[in-house]
Amino acid sequence: MRLRFHHVLGRGAYGEVVLAEDTVTCQRYAVKVIRKRALLAEVELADVMVEHRVLQLTSGSRFLVHAEFAFQTKMHVLLGLEYLSCGDLDQLLQSKGPLDVNSARFYAAEMVCGIQHLHTMGIIHRDLKPENILVAETGHVKITDFGLALENMYGDRTANDYAGTEGYVAPEMDAREEYNAAVDWFSFGVIINQMITGERKYHHKLFNESTSGAKSIILQLLKRNPAKRLGVNRDIRKHRFFQQIDWISVESLRVPPPHILESSKPEHLEPFHLDAVEAAEAKDFRPSPKDQAMFRGFSFSNLKTLLDTSSKTTGASSPTEPP
Ligand code: ADE
Repeated sequence: MRLRFHHVLGRGAYGEVVLAEDTVTCQRYAVKVIRKRALLAEVELADVMVEHRVLQLTSGSRFLVHAEFAFQTKMHVLLGLEYLSCGDLDQLLQSKGPLDVNSARFYAAEMVCGIQHLHTMGIIHRDLKPENILVAETGHVKITDFGLALENMYGDRTANDYAGTEGYVAPEMDAREEYNAAVDWFSFGVIINQMITGERKYHHKLFNESTSGAKSIILQLLKRNPAKRLGVNRDIRKHRFFQQIDWISVESLRVPPPHILESSKPEHLEPFHLDAVEAAEAKDFRPSPKDQAMFRGFSFSNLKTLLDTSSKTTGASSPTEPP
């Protein structure tokens, strides 16, 4: 197996995100290690399957995190995401404090590219927030975490189930009304406001400027009526806030990022051993053939080159793909 696991990057209800490295190419990945037991019991399997599908589609945009591979062992499914080493926008805001308008405009413009790409594929993210905007060592940003995404939201289709994070959720979703992709633009408005003022809630008194267009774009994105909200009905790229933005340069990563950050290091390095977590799970869970059949077709991409070579660096149990 040529994938070497390093340390844990983060944890969720489903399992861990672990830094891993391809020992041949030295390419690093953020591997989401998800317990099959959690998927079969508590966390909805459908959500992970949506995330798995969306992460393959997102490779079409430089502003969306995508999956390079997926595979499974007896006890886990593993999703190999591109690794962005400089933390997220939430950490950036915590370390730098509120951003100057030009920096906020840069991140907002890159996010617009990602959000519009998702929406043209009929996907609503539903959980846009600074924690889900990752920063690369180049200083560019990408949207991640498609665990709450909704697919096939083309045309006039609407949904009504509640999903998201308090403070970023659009009023129509909060009111349990039918909603569309406009919910992402509301969250985006909260993020721009937060980048500039440091606050999630909009306060008139924090804006005394009128020239940058920041106040205007935030107010248009935070409109309670989704039909009047900027983003879905009018081209947000043409808003005054983005007047000086050359979108072709943004799309091709030619706009220099305002901040180059140091790679983030977790305070406590917690090593990860796939063997150990497999064995721990096996103690009190025996997936039946019917359980395993639920994960059929999960593996994709360069599975062969990543896993089927003779050098064994982790000693992990061999990956399985039920027939
Ligand atoms: N944490 C979760 N996903 C990540 C990614 N793609 N890169 C870095 N850290 C992460």
